[in-house]
Amino acid sequence: MLYPIIRNALFTLPPETAHKVSMKGLHLAAALPFGKELLANQFKYQHADLSTNILGLHFPNPVGLGAGFDKNAEHLEVLDLLGFGFVEIGTVTPKAQAGNPAPRLFRLPSQKALINRMGFNNDGVDAIAKRLTLRKEKTNSSLIIGGNIGKNKITENSDAWKDYCTNFKGLEEVVDYFVVNVSSPNTPGLRELQEKESLRKIFSELQNLNKNNKPILLKIAPDLETAALDDIISLTQEVKIEGLVSSNTTLDRQLLNKDNATKATAIGAGGLSGQPLFEKSNHVLEYLHNGIGNRIPIIASGGIFTGKDAQAKLNKGASLIQIWTGFIYEGPSMVKNICQYLSAQK
Ligand SMILES: Cc1cc2nc3c(=O)[nH]c(=O)nc-3n(C[C@H](O)[C@H](O)[C@H](O)COP(=O)(O)O)c2cc1C
Repeated sequence: MLYPIIRNALFTLPPETAHKVSMKGLHLAAALPFGKELLANQFKYQHADLSTNILGLHFPNPVGLGAGFDKNAEHLEVLDLLGFGFVEIGTVTPKAQAGNPAPRLFRLPSQKALINRMGFNNDGVDAIAKRLTLRKEKTNSSLIIGGNIGKNKITENSDAWKDYCTNFKGLEEVVDYFVVNVSSPNTPGLRELQEKESLRKIFSELQNLNKNNKPILLKIAPDLETAALDDIISLTQEVKIEGLVSSNTTLDRQLLNKDNATKATAIGAGGLSGQPLFEKSNHVLEYLHNGIGNRIPIIASGGIFTGKDAQAKLNKGASLIQIWTGFIYEGPSMVKNICQYLSAQK
């Protein structure tokens, strides 16, 4: 109930600063005496009817946190206390990189949306793997961690597969599943890797390395034409792609009202997320599910704010869902609210 007040205060800060301040606040709360217990009591919703086995993993609930929120795997302990069923770290690249110059994250509050052009700012695979190894040694948490992997900006597309392999080798021991990200709009040329031949190369090379059968999924853009979606559907029958994440942010500015379209023009390049993306990502999800059936699972991402939104994605064929922009607008009770709603539908 307090969150609307906190959000108003946070929204007076630049978005990236607000993100840092709120995560710092959660860490401080968790460090107080009984802080962890209080947070877990307040935010966790545990109910056996929400648990599910997918990708050979046991998810306590289907509500995950999308990639890009905890790029460097620095907040897993507090995110666990907020009740997430799983958290996807990254996008991780082989070498650390600074990303695009700030400002690179923008709010469009009247449509509960964000535009970002972060550009894969992250500490690089070695530092992130080290952090995860230390965490593994210190905690017995069963939080499921996905490793979302990408290529460095300076890597040519023809060599991109090598970057994906470097990330895979670095994170193999410390994540539960992988997501190949070829759909961020903020790394020049990256989305071209969604083309069939490039994907075939990346997945074949990764599967050659994958002696322990870690699930490797593919995250796609919501802006793909039907022919490209058909290619991906047929590729899932040729090479081992264990699931899809649908979808990443969109470049489509027509989803914005007039006022926000004007703002977006002033903002410039970047991927749009949040409420305007909901329907568009649903169409892609439905199309993919029609083509794939239940052969491989789909993790739905795009514009989820409420339990009803999450249920709609599950009804359209998703096995799990991920939130991101909704979390900024709705606050930390969001996971519990969604879980309670989903539980009541059972
Ligand atoms: C600031 C920001 C950074 C993001 N960074 C990544 C990223 O590094 N890798 C990735 O695969 N997706 C990234 N995403 C996309 C989200 O994971 C998610 O797929 C997308 O925002 C749609 O969901 P939403 O409408 O709930 O936000 C990012 C999104 C935002 C808003």
